Amino acid sequence: MTRITMLSIVAAAMLFTGCGEKAKDSATDAAAKAVESTKEAASHAVDATKEAADKAVEAAKETTAKAVEATKEAVDSAKEGVAAATATATAAVAATAKNVAGAAAYEKCKGCHGADGKTLALGKSPVIAGQSKEELVTKLNGYKAGTINVAGMGTLMKGQVASMDDAAIDAVAAYISALK
Ligand code: HEC
Repeated sequence: MTRITMLSIVAAAMLFTGCGEKAKDSATDAAAKAVESTKEAASHAVDATKEAADKAVEAAKETTAKAVEATKEAVDSAKEGVAAATATATAAVAATAKNVAGAAAYEKCKGCHGADGKTLALGKSPVIAGQSKEELVTKLNGYKAGTINVAGMGTLMKGQVASMDDAAIDAVAAYISALK
């Protein structure tokens, strides 16, 4: 072989090797780029997922807060309702205990029977204070029906109780029975 030929072979070999290197390099580059873009895409995806999760959490928080608020309001108004009902019931109990209706109905009886129910009305009736409620109800209903006339004043007493209904008679009887 001539010297020239030897050189050519060496040069060709060098060229070949060089090309191989370059191909390797570009393959490495491409791989690196691919890894890079995959990483980037992955990190975008993670970001988007985080954002979506954050939004969902935020929305859930808001919904929960609203629900809590609504529940509080409902509880408050229920409390108010209970308080009002309790107040009404208490007032009703107090009125019943004091027998307001009975006291009011007895107002017109005072003139003859006395505020304490111990006056003998027109000098004719017995003391009515402290008689049992049942007895008083029976007597008042008797006067109302016109079937009682003990001292000739039955008609007068009929006029007194004629306009009273069962509830009023019951209340006034309870009131007189409790007079001491
Ligand atoms: C104008 C006077 C007068 C007034 C007002 C009056 N009474 Fe009489 N009351 C009498 C007289 C009189 C008798 C007796 C009647 C008879 O002859 O049976 C009587 C009888 C009674 C008796 C029966 C007592 C007994 O043990 O036999 C009762 C109860 C009674 N009155 C309750 C009342 C009540 C309740 C009122 C008010 C809603 C009232 N009276 C209003 C005069 C009055």
